[in-house]
Amino acid sequence: MFCVSREPLGALVTGGGRGIGRAVASRLAARGDVVFVGDVDFASAERAAAGIRSAGGEAHALSLDVRSVEALGAAVAAVEQVAPLGVMVNNAGWAFSEPLLEVSPERFDALMAVNLRGVFFGVQAAARVMCPRRRGSIVNLASTSAFTASTSPMVAYDTSKGAVRMLTVAAARELAPAGVRVNAVAPGTVDTDLTRSLLSEPGELEGQAAGLIPLGRLGSPEDVAEAVAFLSSDAASYVTGHVLVVDGGWLT
Ligand SMILES: NC(=O)c1ccc[n+]([C@@H]2O[C@H](COP(=O)([O-])OP(=O)(O)OC[C@H]3O[C@@H](n4cnc5c(N)ncnc54)[C@H](O)[C@@H]3O)[C@@H](O)[C@H]2O)c1
Repeated sequence: MFCVSREPLGALVTGGGRGIGRAVASRLAARGDVVFVGDVDFASAERAAAGIRSAGGEAHALSLDVRSVEALGAAVAAVEQVAPLGVMVNNAGWAFSEPLLEVSPERFDALMAVNLRGVFFGVQAAARVMCPRRRGSIVNLASTSAFTASTSPMVAYDTSKGAVRMLTVAAARELAPAGVRVNAVAPGTVDTDLTRSLLSEPGELEGQAAGLIPLGRLGSPEDVAEAVAFLSSDAASYVTGHVLVVDGGWLT
């Protein structure tokens, strides 16, 4: 059900074409945000935006590669032409599993370009328009990997997510006096294409869920989207610098 209870705000979701980002885009549209789905895979962004529109929401697709600072600025400008940017969700990210001794400098840089640099300059681009208005909420996608090492060797990924956690806390402190909140969501294992691409054996994921996740199931993109919706809503108006773990109890 779509319900608009306030002046519509623009919401930009990076990596919104599939997985968690797509679920976040749908959830924010369902509460009445004017959603911009930005993705390096423009076809997936278009499909996600079309799905939201067919469900009654307002959504636009953007071609966006978060590795480009200019592209992030242009995406924010595109949102602002339609509605003031109220919510920025820095979701785009990827991962690979490689032992520390095998990670090349090129692979390391490629990962950080999206997972850390893309988030850092996404925060900056959003803050540039939010601070003068003294209104806005930024939500970054961290991970339980920001708290504990992944079970498979993913030291580069874990490092990037630990950095996103600290970026969130430091940016929240700096931007709070300007009335802009910055929080993060730290999902555990969520059933997405990214997660399945990291598996060595089919069925591994379900085995993990049964054995290691106290709530006994994998997370869904919608579980994460609910947390993003809360943090970016007025219900969380006194919450900033928080990293909300959504992991079925994994870290307990
Ligand atoms: N899936 C999980 O279990 C899990 C757990 C913790 C954190 N996360 C984080 O959540 C976020 C989303 O993960 P997901 O599982 O939905 O991944 P996914 O691979 O299913 O989707 C990622 C989306 O980001 C897009 N993307 C990749 N590089 C981009 C770039 N340079 N610019 C713009 N878009 C780009 C992809 O095209 C894709 O649509 C990531 O930051 C990931 O690290 C995921």
